Amino acid sequence: MAEEVSEKKRAAANSAAQLVQPGMLVGLGTGSTARFVVEALGRRVRAGLTITAVPTSDATAAHAEAEGIRLASLDDSGALDLTIDGADEVELGTLNLTKGLGGALLREKIVASASRRMIVVADDRKLVERLGARARIPVEVIPFGWPLAARRIEALGAVAELRRAADGVPFRTDGGHYILDCAFGPIADAGLLASKLDATVGVVEHGLFLGIASEVHLAGDAGVTIFRR
Ligand code: A5P
Repeated sequence: MAEEVSEKKRAAANSAAQLVQPGMLVGLGTGSTARFVVEALGRRVRAGLTITAVPTSDATAAHAEAEGIRLASLDDSGALDLTIDGADEVELGTLNLTKGLGGALLREKIVASASRRMIVVADDRKLVERLGARARIPVEVIPFGWPLAARRIEALGAVAELRRAADGVPFRTDGGHYILDCAFGPIADAGLLASKLDATVGVVEHGLFLGIASEVHLAGDAGVTIFRR
């Protein structure tokens, strides 16, 4: 089963990596599916492709460097041609996403929003009819006063749990923040919830990516299907 899922992730990644053209400025996502994208681009770079990439996490930066991909920071870059990233949920029809299980949602959203196109790579377990059906919504919060932010989010209808690292201490994002994993269940109006989270004091960013993905490469048993918005 795990091997089958890995093969689907690899297939989706290889499909999306073909969209990268010489000279492009490319955003590199974070997570196990995005890792296959970095590997695919690394192979192409070693075969002569010239690109520059902006990573969405310290982990992706280290992996891309090891693959020989030239990196730039967002501060030195203009608009990115495209970003390729994974997702925890892909909503049928809208291509709205849940992201952030890997803890990189803030940089992922910043990089995606700086890109002309966001290409999503996922296996078919991620497809849902409503966001929130399969995944909790990660909400990145400032550590100072985080229980207050958690109570405010719970007042919106969730159960909010502070994410912890394996040793039990609170998980810290690359930006030094905490993450609250918020179980809302299937979300009827993701736009309304996103605006309420945006307006919650102490919230830095959340994992609802609405109207951002342009294309999803979804790998299933019969191969990769491309959905466009
Ligand atoms: C990282 O913060 C996340 O947004 C990932 O992109 C998302 O969790 C998908 O990860 P996998 O490809 O590992 O499932």
